[in-house]
Amino acid sequence: MRRFENRTALVTAGAEGLGRGVALRLAAEGARVAIWDRDSGALDNAVRAARDADLSLHTTTLDMTDGTAIAEAAAELLEAFGGLDVLVNNIGGSLHTPFRFLEQSEADWNLVMDVNVTACVRTTRALLPAMVDAGYGRIINMGSKAGRFGSLFAGANYAASKGAMQAFTLQIAQEFGPAGITCNTLCPGAILTPRVERLLSERQSPEERERVLSTIPVRRHGTVEDIAAAVAYIASEEAGFVNGASLDINGGQAMVI
Ligand SMILES: NC(=O)c1ccc[n+]([C@@H]2O[C@H](COP(=O)([O-])OP(=O)(O)OC[C@H]3O[C@@H](n4cnc5c(N)ncnc54)[C@H](O)[C@@H]3O)[C@@H](O)[C@H]2O)c1
Repeated sequence: MRRFENRTALVTAGAEGLGRGVALRLAAEGARVAIWDRDSGALDNAVRAARDADLSLHTTTLDMTDGTAIAEAAAELLEAFGGLDVLVNNIGGSLHTPFRFLEQSEADWNLVMDVNVTACVRTTRALLPAMVDAGYGRIINMGSKAGRFGSLFAGANYAASKGAMQAFTLQIAQEFGPAGITCNTLCPGAILTPRVERLLSERQSPEERERVLSTIPVRRHGTVEDIAAAVAYIASEEAGFVNGASLDINGGQAMVI
C-alpha cells in the first residue's frame, strides 16, 4: 500500500523502538518522514536502516524536555517540509522510575509528566496551526494499556500520564475536527522492544511472565509491526471518521486482567 504519497509525517522519539518502526512504515508507504530524538547515534542507525530499505528519513537531534528546542525543531520542520500532515506523538515511557506509588518521588513524577505529556503538548501546539491552515491533519498520540487499566510494572506516574494523553486527545479531537484534523490515541500492551524486554525481566519472574503470557487471548506479546500497522491506518485518509478514539492493541489482554 502507498497511502502516504505526497504526505509528510513527524514521529517523535523515532530513532528506536516503536517510533522507528512507525517511521519506516510510513516512509515505506510513500510519506516524507522526519524523526526527532535526543540520541544522535540511534538517529544515524535509523537512517542506515531506512537506507537499507531504499527509504530516507529527515532527522533532528533534540532533547524533548526542552520547550525551546521543540519550538525551533518544529519551525525547521515546517520550513523543510512546507507543512505537516501526520504527527505521531510517540515520545514517552516510564523511564525506569519505581513502579510502587509510595516509592516514586516528586522528581520521578515531574520527569514522567514532562516526557509523556508536556513534550507532546508542546509539539502539538507548535505544529497544529500549520495543519489548521492546510485544513487537514492526523494526530496520533501514543497511549498505553497502562493509561486505560493501570500497570503493575510501569507505575502510577506513567499510568496517569497516559490517561492525561487520552483526555488531551478527546479535547483536540473535538476542537479541531471541524478543521479537518483527527486526533486519536493508540493504547499498546507490552511490545517487546529491547527496553521493555529489560524492564519485564527486571520486574517479573520467569513464572510471572509465563502466567501473563497465558492470559493474553492471542498467546503472544505485541510486535513493533503490530503498532506500525495500526498507526498507518489511523494516519491514513481513509480513517477520517475515526476521531477521539482510544484503540487497544493488546491481543485482548485487557479483557482478562
Ligand atoms: N514498548 C511498549 O511495550 C509500549 C507499550 C505501550 C506504550 N508504549 C509507548 O510507546 C512509545 C514508544 O515506546 P518505546 O518502547 O518504543 O520506547 P523506547 O524507549 O524503545 O524508545 C524511545 C526513544 O525515545 C528517545 N528519547 C527518550 N527521551 C527523549 C528525550 N527527552 N528527547 C528526545 N528523545 C528521547 C530515545 O532516545 C529512544 O530513541 C512511548 O510513548 C511508550 O510509552 C510503549
